[in-house]
Amino acid sequence: MTESLVGIDVGTSGVKGVAISPRGEVLATAEEAYPLSTPQPGWSEQDPEHWWRAAQACLARLPDGPIGYSGQMHGLVTLDAEERVLRPAILWNDQRTAAECAEIEERIGLARLVELTGNRALTGFTAPKLLWLRKHEPDVYARIAHILLPKDYVRLRLEGEHAIDAADASGTLLFDVARRRWSDEVLDALELPRAWLPPVSESTEIAGAGDQAAGALGVGIDAPGPLSVALGTSGVVFGVLPAYRADPEARLHTFCHAVPGTWHAMGVMLSAAGSLRWLRDVVGGEEHTLVDEAEAWPAGAEGALFLPYLTGERTPHADPGARAAFIGLTIRNDRGALARAVLEGVAYGLRDSLLLLRELGFAPTTGRVSGGGARSRLWTEIVATVLGIPLERTAVDEGAAFGAALLAGVRSGRFANAHEAVAECVRVTRRVEPNPTWTPVYEEGYERFRAAYPALRPLT
Ligand code: XUL
Repeated sequence: MTESLVGIDVGTSGVKGVAISPRGEVLATAEEAYPLSTPQPGWSEQDPEHWWRAAQACLARLPDGPIGYSGQMHGLVTLDAEERVLRPAILWNDQRTAAECAEIEERIGLARLVELTGNRALTGFTAPKLLWLRKHEPDVYARIAHILLPKDYVRLRLEGEHAIDAADASGTLLFDVARRRWSDEVLDALELPRAWLPPVSESTEIAGAGDQAAGALGVGIDAPGPLSVALGTSGVVFGVLPAYRADPEARLHTFCHAVPGTWHAMGVMLSAAGSLRWLRDVVGGEEHTLVDEAEAWPAGAEGALFLPYLTGERTPHADPGARAAFIGLTIRNDRGALARAVLEGVAYGLRDSLLLLRELGFAPTTGRVSGGGARSRLWTEIVATVLGIPLERTAVDEGAAFGAALLAGVRSGRFANAHEAVAECVRVTRRVEPNPTWTPVYEEGYERFRAAYPALRPLT
């Protein structure tokens, strides 16, 4: 029997699992969807039991082998002393904690917070969610004995172990990203008990990473060079830093990478492929038919423009109150035009992050795409053109589950380290160049996109 390495990604729309050979060939895949609950405007929750059931169902369809874990970052799972889940998990795209973010930055001071954690307080991060529970659900808060991030809850159910990796811990705002350990100063300032937190290891030691770090590894981003461009529910532009360095204004996130002793910077938009899924839910069809209909429209869709802020926005606006909009519509626009505007609006949002990375000194010449949206050639070409860099696709689109399988291979000793895993398993299969005939349209479109958010903000 072929030896296999298994990776699971506990995502926002479902669990994805992959089993690969130690040469990186896909042996089997499995996918199980689950719902997202939005009980109040701006809230975003999921039942950890759904993750566990979906993970079990995926694993049952995959060959046995060492398992690596990846998952949506920042989500807060609260457990009591008997390891029972206390309430639905509060997710990375939840926006209820604006007041708590302000409180954290006030208590610690923005400059000190960035020194201690590499980041500023953003609504999706984990720490403000704990402060929100303390204020709004004191009964739940009083019973907390452990907290975990989403994929680590699945690990607990499967292996009985409380654990976290430095990459995912970076998104809690309780972590000293430079020193790769929990920050006692932040915990003390926020009056949060250290005993709730799991022990921290490097990703390769425990075969786990937040989905962005795992996804970057899965497309071969193990060192400074090409960017990782992820078109999942969220949209991310991610570059490995030559050494630890936080932006003093924390406009981008500075997190530990899944490769021990390395760091990365990234910008995160909250609704990328999530915007296309929303459009499908509203106007009908399937995502791939919407993309086919979008292809019938010229670049720029005759002026139809979409602002992708369906769940507020993180990079570059850090604005939980941001709202989405279609503007510039005419009576000629149909469903395909709306779809084209969505694909282009998401690409413009990614460009916002790319420009911030350039300001920090990144000078990328290529990117590597992953995530559900990367399956679309049209969308990949639009993003390549708007970013102005060629985008490479690897043999396996689902970078995060694949990256988790690579980490399983390192942990189990199949590979000496993450670099060897990448060299053995990641293959670039296609390169999508920017389309020069679209470039002038998208340059103008991006100017309109930049102007629209501040103009519409007072109306939302
Ligand atoms: C990263 C982030 C999202 C989630 C999506 O900071 O919040 O990309 O990890 O799963």
